[in-house]
Amino acid sequence: MAKSTKKPSPDVETERRSIDGGPQGDDSRYDRALRPRTFDDYVGQTKHKDNLRVFVEAARRRNEPLDHLLLCGPPGLGKTTLAQILAHEMGVELHMTNGPVVEHKGALAGILTKLGPRDILFIDEIHRLNPVVEESLYPALEDFRIDIMTGEGAFASAIQIGVNPFTLVGATTRTGLLTAPLFSRFGHVLRLDFYPVEDLAKIVVRSADLLGVAIDARAALAIGARARGTPRVANRLLRRVRDFAEVLGTGVIDEKAVTSACERLEIDPAGFDEMDRRLLKVIIVDYDGGPVGVETIAAALGEPRDTVEDVYEPYLLQQGYIGRTPRGRVATRKAFEHLGFKPPKKALEALAAGPVGAGVQATLPLGSPSDTLDDD
Ligand SMILES: Nc1ncnc2c1ncn2[C@@H]1O[C@H](COP(=O)(O)OP(=O)(O)OP(=O)(O)O)[C@@H](O)[C@H]1O
Ligand SMILES: [Mg+2]
Repeated sequence: MAKSTKKPSPDVETERRSIDGGPQGDDSRYDRALRPRTFDDYVGQTKHKDNLRVFVEAARRRNEPLDHLLLCGPPGLGKTTLAQILAHEMGVELHMTNGPVVEHKGALAGILTKLGPRDILFIDEIHRLNPVVEESLYPALEDFRIDIMTGEGAFASAIQIGVNPFTLVGATTRTGLLTAPLFSRFGHVLRLDFYPVEDLAKIVVRSADLLGVAIDARAALAIGARARGTPRVANRLLRRVRDFAEVLGTGVIDEKAVTSACERLEIDPAGFDEMDRRLLKVIIVDYDGGPVGVETIAAALGEPRDTVEDVYEPYLLQQGYIGRTPRGRVATRKAFEHLGFKPPKKALEALAAGPVGAGVQATLPLGSPSDTLDDD
């Protein structure tokens, strides 16, 4: 069904963590097996799902393609899954590619001319499209045509080729990096949120069923609580816990099996691993609770700034362990208490001060104006 172009290897290889939302190791094999195929199987994100059902139904009735759709959110929340479900529910083919893979206009033209009527073109990491390619995508999105230049110099002329009406589904972890002209061409923008524990527990139960593993409700909740709001992490933890339960226990996953497996994996009850704790300690111990610039944090951890912003921070921010202020990141009372430190007065004052309180910042979604707040 889905045609896909190979994903490029990431620019920077980061240390492997079992609670990273990005795909790793044998994830992709399981991703395929565990991936929901219909809206009914897709757990949570109810508001978005209900809207999409309506859009799909309306487009089907009119025999038209869906309006172009942008899916944003941290890795592992179900963007690719949603694109596949949309193609399935629309009864059309899904063509998958990746921003940096489409290297030149010719490659894009090749992809576009292969699309059947109402097909879905899924471009992952769409913020990484080459600007020239991106520009040549605009006429295709608006008028379903591509402009091709032939000849050179004085003999150059443009010819226009029509393409079938299609839907572009773009996925990005960084809405802030999308250019305004591209962003404005999407009819719908969907920001996926981290999942609540109960939804993650439902995903764990569903996956356990597909994997043929016995799990009780409390164990599913315990995995959900440690999955950092991310279905991919929930599925990965389930597989790790299954390994421990099969080798060291009875094979049945109960709450005790989850707790002991996570202890061995050094994942604490909040779902934090060594890296999260190191990040919090940099702010709390080295910088008295902050504010400290993200660049400084990245240097202290020996990680690129992008990794800190894309991978480590979003969940800590969303859960209110750290806050964003115009002068940098601050650790919240919750973070101090989680690591067993007493919150100093300074950190609490920094939180209360500033034009925007960090408590508010902590809950803002990705791509919100807060992304531009501190550019240190
Ligand atoms: N709502 C959901 N219900 C059940 N399972 C889900 C849901 N969302 C995601 N999953 C599971 O999580 C895995 C990862 O999801 P997916 O690959 O769609 O994430 P993504 O947002 O595309 O991540 P990335 O940014 O890394 O590309 C899927 O294989 C699927 O099994
Ligand atoms: Mg994906």
